[in-house]
Amino acid sequence: THVVTEQCVRCKFAECVTYCPVACFREGDTFLVIDPEECIDCGNCVEACPADAIYPEDELPPELRPALEWNARLAPLLPLATADLRPLAEADAWLGRPDKWGTLAG
Ligand code: F3S
Repeated sequence: THVVTEQCVRCKFAECVTYCPVACFREGDTFLVIDPEECIDCGNCVEACPADAIYPEDELPPELRPALEWNARLAPLLPLATADLRPLAEADAWLGRPDKWGTLAG
C-alpha cells in the first residue's frame, strides 16, 4: 500500500484524489488517509502531492512509520474523499512544518 504521512496534516491539498484510479482516499477534517484495502500501489499520488506527504509502505522513513497504523485504523471510519475537494485555507502556511501530527493531539 501507499501511506499518507503527517505532511498532509493541516494542508490537505487533495491533488492526490484526482490522480487516484481507485477509491482509496478517505477524508478526515484536516488530512486524508489511504485505505490499504483499496490501494493498488499505482503511485500516481506520490508525484501529485505538493506536500510530498505520500510514500510507498516500503520506503517510509522510520520516523513516519506510525502513519501506516493510522491510515489503516482511520480509513474504515472516514468517508470517501471526493475529487472536488479544495485545499484547506491554511494549506500554504502549514506546508513543510515539522511534527504536524503532534499538533492534532490534545
Ligand atoms: Fe494530503 Fe497531499 Fe493529498 S497534502 S490531501 S496527501 S495531495
